[in-house]
Amino acid sequence: MYPKSRLKCINCGKEFGSDEIVYVCRNCNSLLEVLIDIPRISLKEMAKREFSVWRYREFIPIEEDCEVVTLREGGTPLYECNRLAKWVGVKKLYIKYEGANPTGSFKDRGMTVGVTKAKSLGSKAVACASTGNTSASLAAYAARAGLTCYVLLPAHKVALGKLAQALMHGAKVISVRGNFDVALKMVMELSQKMDIYILNSVNPWRLEGQKTLAFEIIDQLNHVPDVVCVPMGNCGNISAIWKGFKEFHISGIIDKTPKMFGVQAEGAAPLVNMLKRGDKVLTPVTHPETIATAIRIGNPVNWPKAVMAIKESNGFYEAVSDEEIIEAQRLIATLEGIGVEPASAASVAGLKKAIANNIISKDIEAVCVCTGHLLKDPEEVIKVCNRPIEITPDVKLTPEILLAK
Ligand code: F0G
Repeated sequence: MYPKSRLKCINCGKEFGSDEIVYVCRNCNSLLEVLIDIPRISLKEMAKREFSVWRYREFIPIEEDCEVVTLREGGTPLYECNRLAKWVGVKKLYIKYEGANPTGSFKDRGMTVGVTKAKSLGSKAVACASTGNTSASLAAYAARAGLTCYVLLPAHKVALGKLAQALMHGAKVISVRGNFDVALKMVMELSQKMDIYILNSVNPWRLEGQKTLAFEIIDQLNHVPDVVCVPMGNCGNISAIWKGFKEFHISGIIDKTPKMFGVQAEGAAPLVNMLKRGDKVLTPVTHPETIATAIRIGNPVNWPKAVMAIKESNGFYEAVSDEEIIEAQRLIATLEGIGVEPASAASVAGLKKAIANNIISKDIEAVCVCTGHLLKDPEEVIKVCNRPIEITPDVKLTPEILLAK
């Protein structure tokens, strides 16, 4: 069974049908969200199926007769991290490792649903602007579906692994001499002139796939954690995860919800700045800059939804420096064996900072969402790690060489 659904404007409440191609409200230009008829089904019943995005079929508003475009996404590990917990200063810490998805990031959860939706609407071409991961994921799912794919990337600011993926999966890649925000504006304008389906996170159907991350945390833990930490860029993911927890709550599967903690990089923190100042409206950062290129975004389209997620959940927000991000990335890798890209490490760095500043109690159980794989951005890793020791074949390998600092 799939749930019946419709689109609703989060500002004026105007509704649109699930078969309409519409990204923002035609009445007031605000964001849309998917409303579903919440099913009454137990977790136990769904647990009989493969552990993946589609285990939660009753919550995913894709009609039964649609052929699902899938690469077996979701079902990612939730690692208990005791050594890292000590470093962070928190009682209990888990990492939800989204690097284990088919293209190495959480975007695959959204794309399996978004590209299936594109096919069901009869689209022949899909497109996105991206800081890298969305383009890698969309390129792969478009290939799987036999659709044409166009991606717009900020020139010279996309990690090499992600660019390689988009190119190899056959997307037409346009490099824009500007940042992500400029590229997104361009692709949205193009969608009015050309028959292409946009799969940025402004597309509310994509978020329906991403909300399954919340379902999986409940499935894996068997209870509700106190805090869920999420790195924020365009702010779609934190909104999607919060929607997932809310839907499980309404359906009666859980009896409370966690607090959502959104983390941005200091050089690209328009939402955290806005919340810290107590402003009602977001002031974009014109020249966002951070080593975590995935979240190098100055004007996040989904900011109103992220504000709802943080406020409704009684949650938190924080910004972290590039140094804090790199340190967290290194410790996640060395203390736990989990390889994540810099943006992912922002969740752990943010938690450490919030605990040190007494914003969050150390006496909690937290889940940090680590959104992308270490291999996405090998160039950054090489820059911040020690060089290998190079020796010639005639040199005798001695313990001194191995033990040298
Ligand atoms: N982490 C990673 C690794 C990402 O790639 C992104 C977003 C985020 C976190 C933030 O998620 O935008 O939903 O708040 N990457 C997008 C992209 C923007 O184009 O790949 P968000």
